[in-house]
Parts: sequence; C-alpha cells; structure tokens
Amino acid sequence: MNATYSSTGENAESATVTAESPASSASGAPAGVAYPKTIKSYVRRAGRTTTGQAKAFEDLGPRFLLSYAAQPFDAAAAFGRTAPLILEIGFGMGEATAHIARVRPDDNFLCCEVHEPGVGALLKRIGEQDIGNIRILQHDAVEVIDNMLAPGSLDGIHIFFPDPWHKKKHNKRRLIQPPLVAKLAARLKPGGYLHCATDWQPYAEQMLEVLSAEPLLANSQPAGGFAPQPDYRPLTKFENRGLRLGHGVWDVVFRRRP
Ligand SMILES: C[S@@+](CC[C@H](N)C(=O)[O-])C[C@H]1O[C@@H](n2cnc3c(N)ncnc32)[C@H](O)[C@@H]1O
Repeated sequence: MNATYSSTGENAESATVTAESPASSASGAPAGVAYPKTIKSYVRRAGRTTTGQAKAFEDLGPRFLLSYAAQPFDAAAAFGRTAPLILEIGFGMGEATAHIARVRPDDNFLCCEVHEPGVGALLKRIGEQDIGNIRILQHDAVEVIDNMLAPGSLDGIHIFFPDPWHKKKHNKRRLIQPPLVAKLAARLKPGGYLHCATDWQPYAEQMLEVLSAEPLLANSQPAGGFAPQPDYRPLTKFENRGLRLGHGVWDVVFRRRP
C-alpha cells in the first residue's frame, strides 16, 4: 500500500497516540505545518481477513504474535535467542519484511502493524517461507516505542513507505517528525541505523531534513543526502508499480553516533 497508496480515508476511525511535545517544532516541518502534541499516524482501514490469513492467525499466532504490555520488552525471551534486534514500523502486507528476515537470518525482527489483514498476511508468509526470526506486535508502534523499548536496545529501525499524508493539512500525521525521531534515535545502540524509504519526494526531503537535525544521528552517506537502496530491501510489487508509473524512490539511512 505505497507508491500509489491506498487513500487514507479522512472519515475513517483514527487512532490517537501521544508524542512528546517537540522542543523545536520548526525543524523539518513543511512550511506552515505545526507539529502536534499527539500524532495520529494511521487510520483503521477497512479490509477483510482472508480464510488463509485467519488460519495463519490460528496456527501461527500463538508462536509469532506478541501481546502489547507497557513493560520492558524481553527480546531474548520473545525470540528464544539473543541476536541483533531490528524494529519495523508499519509493515503493510509484510512482503519486504518476510524477504528481509530470510536474507538476514542472524537478526531478530520485531514488527509492528495495526492493520489486521496485514498481520494475517505476514503470519501466512512466515508459515509458507518457514521464517523463524520475526515477532509481530499488532499495536501502535509509537506506544511500543514509548512503553516497551529501552534506550540503546535496538540495532536498527525500518520504516518503509510510511503513510505520506499528502495533503498539507494532514502532514502533521507523518511519523517522521522531530519528536518521534528523537525517541527512535535514543533507542538505537551507538552505531545502530535508522532506514526510511518513501516514494513521495516532499516526504523524502522532510525525512532528510528531520534526521539531519537530530543530534544523535549522522548520515550514513559521508557527503550527505539520500542513500543508495541497501541490498536487503527488496523492490516490492507496489514499489515496482510506482516505478513503472515514473515515481522515484528515496532511501534515507542514518546511524546513531558513538
Ligand atoms: C503505506 S503502508 C506501507 C506498508 C509497507 N511498509 C510497504 O512498504 O508496503 C504504511 C503502513 O504503516 C502502518 N502504520 C502507520 N502508522 C502506524 C503505527 N503508528 N503503528 C503501526 N503501524 C502503523 C499502516 O497501518 C500501514 O499498513
């Protein structure tokens, strides 16, 4: 659901999440957009869970679905092993997530998504592709960051094609804003990375600006600017469709300073 994004229905039920009040709301904000104290980064989209997804919930949910609890996340217990921990925010239908987990078997992937059919789809892929290194939290990622993830606990963060909230009056609902980026940076280990990708150029520019302004982060590109697409991130069918339509795609990769 990117590239030619599903429309984020303005009348759909919204989820409200709290974000710390920005110290500097000007930094990185599109002109004329003030950052809010609360971010509503997603809407609960309609969408039916298929029979296959329902079966995946039943068969694989007990092993791969975690419960949200406002207490520190015990990664070793959740994954049954100690390994570098990568957080993914908003995996959609999980196509890229499953691919990345397969090509990086030595990493653990904690993946947040609120869209139930998407969670079912990723569970189904886990079963079909025999993937063991993913755990899913069907919950608002911002609350997970606030209440479950300790400072310095993450080796990487993936935010691929976050809802672009195209309309100016909705820009304030974008995930990549200074307050959330400050929280994300704090949860990375020194040297850990934050990788965002988007096909919406104004959002790509906002990502670059907001991440560049975060004191804990440094651009992975010595000369600054956008990064080449890292080889672990696949071209999904949505991205391919966007590229065919002539859209660009921008990757932004920053690392936490030592
Ligand atoms: C445009 S889709 C992109 C999905 C996927 N990353 C891809 O590349 O196809 C953005 C996804 O982020 C999810 N999302 C948005 N805000 C979220 C949040 N705060 N917590 C968890 N998921 C969120 C939405 O439900 C949606 O599925």
